[in-house]
Amino acid sequence: MIKVGIVGGTGYTGVELLRILAAHPEAQLTVITSRKEDNLSVADMYPSLRKRVSLKFSSPDNADLTKCDVVFFATPHGVAMKAAPQLISAGVKVIDLAADFRLRDVTQFEQWYGMPHSCPDLLQEAAYGLPELNREAIKPARIIGNPGCYPTTIQLGFYPLLKAGIVDGSHLIADCKSGASGAGRKAEIGLLFSEINDNFKAYSASGHRHNPETLEQLQKMSSSPVGLIFTPHLVPMIRGMHSTLYARLNTSIDNKTLQSLFEAAYQHEAFVDVMPFGSHPETRSTRGSNTLRIALHRPDNGSTLIILVVQDNLMKGASGQAVQCMNLMFGLPETCGLALLPVSP
Ligand SMILES: NC(=O)c1ccc[n+]([C@@H]2O[C@H](COP(=O)([O-])OP(=O)(O)OC[C@H]3O[C@@H](n4cnc5c(N)ncnc54)[C@H](OP(=O)(O)O)[C@@H]3O)[C@@H](O)[C@H]2O)c1
Repeated sequence: MIKVGIVGGTGYTGVELLRILAAHPEAQLTVITSRKEDNLSVADMYPSLRKRVSLKFSSPDNADLTKCDVVFFATPHGVAMKAAPQLISAGVKVIDLAADFRLRDVTQFEQWYGMPHSCPDLLQEAAYGLPELNREAIKPARIIGNPGCYPTTIQLGFYPLLKAGIVDGSHLIADCKSGASGAGRKAEIGLLFSEINDNFKAYSASGHRHNPETLEQLQKMSSSPVGLIFTPHLVPMIRGMHSTLYARLNTSIDNKTLQSLFEAAYQHEAFVDVMPFGSHPETRSTRGSNTLRIALHRPDNGSTLIILVVQDNLMKGASGQAVQCMNLMFGLPETCGLALLPVSP
């Protein structure tokens, strides 16, 4: 059994990790930390885990994470990079759900996250945790920078097109919407029910932290410079992410070939579903599962393609993807513990 630690077990991605790992046949939950809920039983905080998780939260200062085989950091940025050097030298693998190990460019990290990187050497060896595009690097890695939720949809949506070189990569557009759980479980006026419900708004339209991460990865798919306009929105739902992507074709190609391009790219992927051409995937069709769904549209058979991508932000957008990486790192089938069907309605 893989002994698992979770730092930040009280947050939304933390409790999602607990839900997945409590039912994972090869994982043994070993340490779960919280600064605020030290000594509280996990099931007292989350009755959904009663009789499945018997652990108590312990403060990160008292928790012995070195007895784990792998530690997930479901924490704000800046936490994992402080603890990683000690864990790595103790032989413990690290999967960070925050941004500490996503951006290869330290200057970009420091600019966007407003803090110096405390272990740039480890950053250079970390693997970007998007299995569909980086599987071979994830398998032997000691540290994973788990992708952001928006970047996952944007990369998997644009990948087949950029790889084939059939779109103008310099002018990609991503119009994305996230449910409120994407902002975490913190108390903030803007996240109150009365502020979010019956409301709809964009945020960070002039520049979002996921921009440099997404660009860094998209650039790897193309030999010419990639440009991205990315506008995130907050929608009044709890879980779910819907990204509407736009790209302009630079060659003549028929719709059947376009569809085949996507189907071929993801034919062996357990968690990517390419729907029939012209479909409208719904966020609800992914709720609680690690599945991401994609559908292609081409209005008036013109040169602009629309790629619709949906996922559960807490699953394929965060904790499900992190467990997918853990499975790869420990030589398990990638789908182990992740065969969860979406919850509907
Ligand atoms: N929510 C999503 O959809 C999503 C998707 C992709 C990635 N992410 C990323 O995943 C990370 C966690 O997100 P979340 O939504 O789960 O956040 P959250 O709900 O706000 O939870 C954060 C957790 O971190 C703990 N924590 C905070 N500061 C800490 C510190 N200095 N040291 C140790 N523990 C600390 C908190 O517990 P205590 O205060 O009790 O210690 C809490 O359990 C973030 O970096 C986020 O950007 C989130």
